[in-house]
Amino acid sequence: MPSAEPRQRLFFALWPDESLRQELERILTGESFKAVTGRQVAPENYHITLRYLGPLTEAQQSCVEQVADALRGENFQLTLDKVGYWPGPRVAWLGTERPPIALEMLVKALERGLVSCGFEPERRPFQPHLTFLRKALPKALPTSVSPIAWPVDRFALVRSRTLPEGVQYDIVRSWSFDGTVK
Ligand code: 2AM
Repeated sequence: MPSAEPRQRLFFALWPDESLRQELERILTGESFKAVTGRQVAPENYHITLRYLGPLTEAQQSCVEQVADALRGENFQLTLDKVGYWPGPRVAWLGTERPPIALEMLVKALERGLVSCGFEPERRPFQPHLTFLRKALPKALPTSVSPIAWPVDRFALVRSRTLPEGVQYDIVRSWSFDGTVK
């Protein structure tokens, strides 16, 4: 039997730069979050998923990268000011009270391109969230945080690997909204 084609588990995401990552870490491991119950997401893994793609073949990945190459958009500012909890997956996350239109448009444009690559349309509405706690309980979670400004000027294609020491994410490529590859 031919061996299965190798696949990489990929997703599009917003990835914080180092100074924002440090600010997020300071807040999410700080006083307001001291009493929460759950497993903290490693700060180097903080991100907001734009679109989960799953395990892709090389041909699928190439199509997805062409979609990103062709995409144009506008820089925008995301304000993280809200703490949410989903009881099903038991995760706690940071989100925004006001999702920017440019973010919605970015996700819609990606979606259109992905459908043209043969992906099933995403049925679930996009809910921008940065998961910071897994196996979480809602008790002692604050409901908001002082607004954290995230100036977004790029998005990334990220590979996810499950290693013995935990999940590891690596940026495969990133794009700015004027079509320049970063
Ligand atoms: P989460 O933060 O809510 O867990 C990499 O796994 C990223 O893709 C994570 O941010 C995760 O979201 C998201 N993700 C994982 N599996 C997914 C799926 N089947 N559908 C949608 N998003 C998924």
